[in-house]
Amino acid sequence: MTALTLNSPAKINLFLAVVGRRPDGFHDLVSVVSQVGFGDTLTVESTDSGEFALECDDASLVVDERNLVLRAARAFREASGWPGGARFRLIKRIPQGAGLGGGSSNATTTLRALNTLAGRPLGLDSLADLAARLGSDCPLFLHPAPLIMRGRGERIELLPEVGVARLRNRRVWLFKPAFGIETPWAFRRLAARAPGGYLAPSEAEERLTEWIERSERPAEKLLFNTLESVSFDKYIALPALVSQLREMFDLNVGMSGSGSTCFAFVPESAPANLGLAVKDVVMDAWGPETFFAETSLAP
Ligand code: C5P
Repeated sequence: MTALTLNSPAKINLFLAVVGRRPDGFHDLVSVVSQVGFGDTLTVESTDSGEFALECDDASLVVDERNLVLRAARAFREASGWPGGARFRLIKRIPQGAGLGGGSSNATTTLRALNTLAGRPLGLDSLADLAARLGSDCPLFLHPAPLIMRGRGERIELLPEVGVARLRNRRVWLFKPAFGIETPWAFRRLAARAPGGYLAPSEAEERLTEWIERSERPAEKLLFNTLESVSFDKYIALPALVSQLREMFDLNVGMSGSGSTCFAFVPESAPANLGLAVKDVVMDAWGPETFFAETSLAP
């Protein structure tokens, strides 16, 4: 096999409790995360050159060695000893600075693709270690099902089926204003509020367990994000729209990661044209450069 085309999906955090600062400067999280049906496409062609090269249809993306695709490729070569080269072509649909994990997803998709092209020299544990070194959100993309992430993001377990059943295939609207939010900024700002900014670890676990165990509680009741208060305080266009969508359509709106993407579940009884009405309100509030997509959580 010399070429592969893989989907590199976005993720959303349905539940994101930041529970404290670690000695390494990162934060400990308790998060429920799901991949969505929307994402980038990565084509990988193996070459004999021993070099890695990246092209992307989005000219605003850095395609030199800082790009996570090339960083992942180099990490893969170091870990596996694979001598081959590859040409990567990325079709970018996931917006940047969005909290949708686009770069992390590209990195993990690169690891998976190269591992396949190289004849699977690395097992899942080695890929997970490599992914964790590339970024906190990278390991989650090794597993398509909804997950619970803990630690910096590297401790992953499958969400129990009683929870997955309420999430599977639920449709969501994703919407992001023209501006992005820098994740390090959001965590720094939260840390400056400490200790008040964090949720106690026991409270995070209790909230999550309660949602999982009370099977009558719909997906909407899981929504929680510690970073929302930080991002919403500065970027007031976010809470303004969230209130509007709640009042007009009774929607529960969440924010993914540190933002700026917000999302809402499509109500199960929604009339067919509700998406257009919601999109009109979002575009009117945030302007014509707003990203808007309807997709669904992982099957
Ligand atoms: O790991 P990643 O490069 O995606 O993280 C980006 C930044 O977000 C980190 O440099 C750190 O400032 C912050 N972060 C954090 N705790 C996490 C994940 C990210 O403080 N668990």
